[in-house]
Amino acid sequence: MSKLLNSGAEPPKVKLVTEVWGPIKSLMAARRNILEIIPEAATKQPIVSGRTGSVRWHMVMEPHAIGRILKDNLENYPKSDVTKNILEPAIGDSMFIAEGAHWRWQRRAASPVFTHRNIANLAPIMSAAADSACARIDAAGEIVDMYEEMITTTFDVISNVTFSGSDAMDSAQVHHAIDRYIAQTARISLFDIIGVPTWVPRPSRIFQPNALKKMKTIADIAIASRKKHGSKPVPDLLDLLLEGQDPETKRQMNMAELRDNLLTFIVAGHETTALTLSWALYLCAFDPEVQDKLRDEAQSVLQGRTATAEDCAALPYTEQVIKEALRLYPPAAFVSRTAQGKDVLCDRDVQRKDTVMLPIYALHRHHAIWDNPDRFDPMRFANGHKPDRYSYLPFGDGPRICIGAQFAMIEATIILATLISRFNFDRIKGRDPKPVMVLTLRPEGGVPLKVSRL
Ligand code: HEM
Repeated sequence: MSKLLNSGAEPPKVKLVTEVWGPIKSLMAARRNILEIIPEAATKQPIVSGRTGSVRWHMVMEPHAIGRILKDNLENYPKSDVTKNILEPAIGDSMFIAEGAHWRWQRRAASPVFTHRNIANLAPIMSAAADSACARIDAAGEIVDMYEEMITTTFDVISNVTFSGSDAMDSAQVHHAIDRYIAQTARISLFDIIGVPTWVPRPSRIFQPNALKKMKTIADIAIASRKKHGSKPVPDLLDLLLEGQDPETKRQMNMAELRDNLLTFIVAGHETTALTLSWALYLCAFDPEVQDKLRDEAQSVLQGRTATAEDCAALPYTEQVIKEALRLYPPAAFVSRTAQGKDVLCDRDVQRKDTVMLPIYALHRHHAIWDNPDRFDPMRFANGHKPDRYSYLPFGDGPRICIGAQFAMIEATIILATLISRFNFDRIKGRDPKPVMVLTLRPEGGVPLKVSRL
């Protein structure tokens, strides 16, 4: 079969802004694609500052300054006000948006949920989801939208590690409610997160109160039923969270806190992992040599089996490809904070209420940090090589680093290795995905690939 070779080209990227735009033009661009308001300079300079309406903002790309925001001066940089206002109706004051002591005890109570052992115990659910994906792809036509496929696959995982087997309701109903709930959070745009002035027209209501209420009711029923009937033979995220206790204060989560944190896992963990896999698969199609090497590794380790958590250590190249996909297309391409008081970052004054953004997309393509930043090259992560601290942040860093990072990496490794060992993926001319920033970095037009069974 003739393959579309990339002949040294770079995979799709966003054309960043090179001219100085007025507020109206940049706001219009932001409505289309938030990455288009990242100035080109953000990939070359340590900090870029500006003002949109009445909001002063700074985009910070210098690793030491990032370390100050995410760790050393953490108290001064809580999650931005808008992030909280938008997410609060959906996920309450859960670990994702809480601050100070209320965040700390929740994080401590939930940490044991994500130990390696607990994730490994849940990994058969990931392997089963990988198998189902293979069966669906097998039955599909020649061209498959791998973004849609991966959304279904990671949905299988997250719904089965949260509310599965809840006797109080049927699973189709739970799936439908989670689906609607996620679709609504997906409508939040970065435009909302950055906090542009209120006069800019925005979708008036992101959340339909009914869908939110339904999801919360389902979660409440599931929690009550699990409390009554005890945990499942292999404890899932709900069981583990029910057992969770802050070792310092001995506090445990009440019903509302359990529910909000479980819903947070669903919102934070489902689409992000699907995107990681979709971009990784696209990049494999983009670079057939990488794909062949990945397949050699997967086939020699798996020998026709479905990957399991125990295989992950023997799949280092798979991990490299995933890490490089997360560098070029970080699902959470923007992290935003609101300064509580004065500070200095890269010799620039920060004032109270300034929005401080970490454009992870630009950091990961910064010329002072990466050689050939726009090139796809999984060898950057060969032999366990770790980039310098605060220069590679797909999962954030500091105390607020993603609690599900290891869960996501194991899930992505199991699914990618299994798929690559059984199928070949080719690009389709003229249908390369375009990275678009909504709340996450999505491929516009999906990731349609030509799939052949091996
Ligand atoms: C590839 C997949 C994932 C990516 C790229 C990702 C990315 C991130 C990032 C960048 C943050 C930090 C946000 C900030 O500092 O403002 C974060 C936080 C968080 N993530 Fe993830 N995430 C992923 C998967 C997951 C999964 C699977 C779960 C749970 C099952 C999860 C749960 C959370 C939670 C609860 C937080 C808040 C932690 C805190 O503030 O203490 N994430 N994630």
